Amino acid sequence: MSIAPEGVDPVKALFPIFKSHPELIYLDSNATSQKPEIVVEAIDRYYRSENANVHRGIYQLSENATRTFEESRIRIAKYINAETQEIIFTRGTTEAINLVANSAGQAFLRPGDEIVVTVAEHHSNIVPWQMAAERFGVTVKYIPLRADRRLDLDAARTLINSKTRIVSLAHVSNVLGVIHPIRDIIKMAKAVGALTMIDGAQGLPHLPVDVKELDCDFYAFSGHKVFGPTGIGVLYGRKTLLQAMPPYQGGGDMIEKVTLHGSTWNELPSKFEAGTPHIEGVIGLGAAIDFLKSMPMDSLLNHDRHLGTYLTHRLKEEFPRVQIMVEPGDDWVGTVTMAHPNIHPHDLAAVCDGENIAIRAGHHCAQPLMEILGVTATARVSPSLYNDESDIDAFLAALRKAEKLFLS
Ligand SMILES: Cc1ncc(COP(=O)(O)O)c(C=O)c1O
Repeated sequence: MSIAPEGVDPVKALFPIFKSHPELIYLDSNATSQKPEIVVEAIDRYYRSENANVHRGIYQLSENATRTFEESRIRIAKYINAETQEIIFTRGTTEAINLVANSAGQAFLRPGDEIVVTVAEHHSNIVPWQMAAERFGVTVKYIPLRADRRLDLDAARTLINSKTRIVSLAHVSNVLGVIHPIRDIIKMAKAVGALTMIDGAQGLPHLPVDVKELDCDFYAFSGHKVFGPTGIGVLYGRKTLLQAMPPYQGGGDMIEKVTLHGSTWNELPSKFEAGTPHIEGVIGLGAAIDFLKSMPMDSLLNHDRHLGTYLTHRLKEEFPRVQIMVEPGDDWVGTVTMAHPNIHPHDLAAVCDGENIAIRAGHHCAQPLMEILGVTATARVSPSLYNDESDIDAFLAALRKAEKLFLS
């Protein structure tokens, strides 16, 4: 880890992007996180001195690459308290959910069954289920939000019933930053014998995760949201279920034997990892998990929540016209999503960009939720460990500038 030069924030000093862009104020970590030096170094080292394909070569370089690759799997498994065989590498959360919707769909869904998700999901936890519904003749049901934009658990109790086969929901909403009561929902699903899938894309960056303690059947996350590389993600699946599911894709590495008449499947996790994997992605993700492990997760959550609360209070005091989509709380990771009655979120984001501030504007891949919020788009500020109050102050100054530009 690098030592911060005088005057440079010691946390920012861990992230090379802030050396290349010292003025950057990055408030879009729900979209993707910045990458610490140790992740960049791990990927650099692999390409400079370890590059070879894995699981294939009978030579030292390939055996070393395989060892480093598989060691990442072991570290990731330990981090979320899974067995090594239960860690399937995917391109990200999206592919992990598609894998479950297809393979678990084929194994466990029958016409007339119901899948329950929430209205606050990212498209990647809605569309694969809608596609599965068409393919397997099942119906998708949606848990609504209460007026305070927390999940309506009373409605969930009715929606999750003897027809339910799979319940899938986000650990944390990417738009609202609300931590969903997944333990309650998992209990409801178990009581009716339904499978549970947790979209942890925004969960793992903020919360410690123990899949055995949660007792979920599947948990997915993306490397790039937890300080790791893009194009790599993880599906945790309960071993007995993964064993009962057919492969998602066919190709190299996932087979036991291929003849011209048919094929048999490799053991877990290879059965679900067809083709040459994203080797440097896995190695970089292993380094990102080491980075996460070195962080006090409670303090990180408190840090992000503090910045979100600070922003919310100042918005209320200084910009009363701005509609803030959710109130801070203990069940919240500090994401602030807002709509200005007179300034389009894209315009606000453009003004911010002029001040070197990166925020997200748009529907955040959550169009059904936007409809419920009564808007087509919002502006979102999602803080992380490399932000502090001065970044929030800068955003508020940009918002003031946007008001001057658009309202005068
Ligand atoms: C809650 C949630 N689920 C799923 C995804 C999809 O992740 P990816 O694009 O990395 O597959 C995202 C990405 O923003 C997300 O925030």
